Amino acid sequence: MTEFDAEAFDSQLTTAILGRRFTALDRVPSTQDLAREVAGESLRNPDGEVVLAEFQTQGRGRLRRAWSSPPNVNLLFSLILCPRARIARPTLITLLMGGSVREALTTGSGVAATLKWPNDVLIDGRKVAGILTEEGRRPDGRPFWVVGVGINVNGAREDLTGKLAHTATTVRAESGHETSREELLARLFAIFEERYGAMQRGELDDLLAWLRRRLGGMGAAVRVRVGDGEVTGAAAGLDDDGALVVRTSHGALSRVEAGDDVEWL
Ligand code: BTN
Repeated sequence: MTEFDAEAFDSQLTTAILGRRFTALDRVPSTQDLAREVAGESLRNPDGEVVLAEFQTQGRGRLRRAWSSPPNVNLLFSLILCPRARIARPTLITLLMGGSVREALTTGSGVAATLKWPNDVLIDGRKVAGILTEEGRRPDGRPFWVVGVGINVNGAREDLTGKLAHTATTVRAESGHETSREELLARLFAIFEERYGAMQRGELDDLLAWLRRRLGGMGAAVRVRVGDGEVTGAAAGLDDDGALVVRTSHGALSRVEAGDDVEWL
């Protein structure tokens, strides 16, 4: 169990902006809250700033679920995005990060990861990483996004207890060896920065094509809770806004937003 080496990370970083301002801390309630503070208070543009922690006491996931992780073995960080260009489709940010995590794991750690809409990365059907994107406003009214990422890197399978023992995994458990967290993070930022640049240049068709090629689970059954009711059907694709298209048993197509409560069956 070694501490995250910020210098080693920096020496491997090839990005222009992403991760160039980097704070690594031992223990925080949630990196999301700290990053929100930085983004809300910073006098300079915080685009690309990162807060990483070795341990969180109140880590959170989508739909107010808790995100727990043992210290010093995984990656827990929040990336601030405050783009100069207006981002018309914020749902795509989460998917771009998911696609980038998938890419970084597959090319670097040699594990076959898949992206599962809207925010999960899986290996062999088990969750290895999750993404939580939250929006905020700068004092001048400009929006920013905090993209929180948790990746189970070097944790042992035995650390995954309760329900997680059946639904989650770690890169180490799947690959059989340890992965350098510094190297993985530097690779991830390089991949994401390229896509983020394309997004800001409005090259959305290419981005959507990139995502559609990487999205797993098409054809699988999903259940979506909407208010008191629910819709079930088969995942049929990704629309241009990043919503999941579901074909119901009656053949109708229904759009599912990232904030909806979706369960893959
Ligand atoms: C999910 O799968 O629902 C998203 C999980 C996101 C967890 C990360 S860990 C770093 C950052 N800080 C948090 O409190 N949450 C995100």
